[in-house]
Amino acid sequence: MSLRFHPLKIGAVEQAAADGSAVALTCLVPVALRAVFAFSAGQHITLRAYVDGVELRRSYSLCSTPEQLRRDGVLRIGVRVVPGGRFSGYVAESLRPGWCLDVLPPVGNFTTAFDPGRRAHYAAIAAGSGITPVLSLAATALAVEPRSSVTVLHGSRTVDSAMFVEELADLKNRYPARLRLVPVFSRERAGSGLSHGRLDHVTLTRYLATALEPGRVAEWFLCGPPGVVQAARRTLAEHGVDSADDSIVHTELFHGDTAPAATARIAPPSPVEPVRSPGQPHELVVVLDGRTSVVRHPGGQRLLDAAMSVRPELPYSCRTGVCVTCRAKVVDGEVRMTGGAALTEQELAAGYVLPCQAVPVTERVTLDFDVS
Ligand code: FES
Repeated sequence: MSLRFHPLKIGAVEQAAADGSAVALTCLVPVALRAVFAFSAGQHITLRAYVDGVELRRSYSLCSTPEQLRRDGVLRIGVRVVPGGRFSGYVAESLRPGWCLDVLPPVGNFTTAFDPGRRAHYAAIAAGSGITPVLSLAATALAVEPRSSVTVLHGSRTVDSAMFVEELADLKNRYPARLRLVPVFSRERAGSGLSHGRLDHVTLTRYLATALEPGRVAEWFLCGPPGVVQAARRTLAEHGVDSADDSIVHTELFHGDTAPAATARIAPPSPVEPVRSPGQPHELVVVLDGRTSVVRHPGGQRLLDAAMSVRPELPYSCRTGVCVTCRAKVVDGEVRMTGGAALTEQELAAGYVLPCQAVPVTERVTLDFDVS
């Protein structure tokens, strides 16, 4: 079945950075919904709220672990509070424990299959709020794989703005020999005793030459603004890592903490070129929750927009090809994707697309939103 929103009670709204620039939101999942919300470390959820009468949707990565959901029935996310950000401002200033938010079940490809029999070294390069899914990944790797180890390179602007410092310290206390934390600060004074620098090519090259041996790392997790992720990919490639292999190098794009965020996780908008004349009508067949709807729409219109004109309940969040929430399978016809690096090669080969980033090529296209 397709993704659908479920109202979840808020268990806690807590500070996640010393300077108050981030909060951690805990959602309580009743026993009956725990299978629906089961997830893999590194995935994210979409929240929906009505603020001043306007519907807002945002996707946020989970910092809690699959085990915490099974054991305690909680999902926890990290929210960077962006100046002027309507959703993050609502979460930080208005939302109270006991209230409800609509939540879509977790999705996302920034993950891997942890195996108790495996012995591996994992490395994460996370900038700003990019530490959120990395916290879940590191905790899960260390708990599930008793012989594996993790290195986390975490870039923040200042000590006070760094997210989840206490949670990372707790994790380090629990696994002192298998977890290595390397915090880097871009706006702390050089000579303060703290590691100073941005997570750019120069800094990463220095760490790969000293603190992290690329040849010993089985899988990499890169999470942060596009500039950081691109620099990390390039640096890893220069050190012999096959950064094009998405089973070795996993990436997740977050906006910069200072960006005027409309969403929590965004990619640069990609223009959609009409494949045929914009005036040429196409027929789109939408399969959702076992029901079929048909719409004729002008060429050049994104398939998500066309589909929502007949099925407004469709799942979506970012509309920029990042969150994967709108994922569907093309079961008839052909489409062209102009963005959506969030899908894996296997998903693309299997016919999955992101309708928010796709236009039709053939006159008739059928999208199935029920195929998971
Ligand atoms: S709505 Fe986020 S990928 Fe389409």
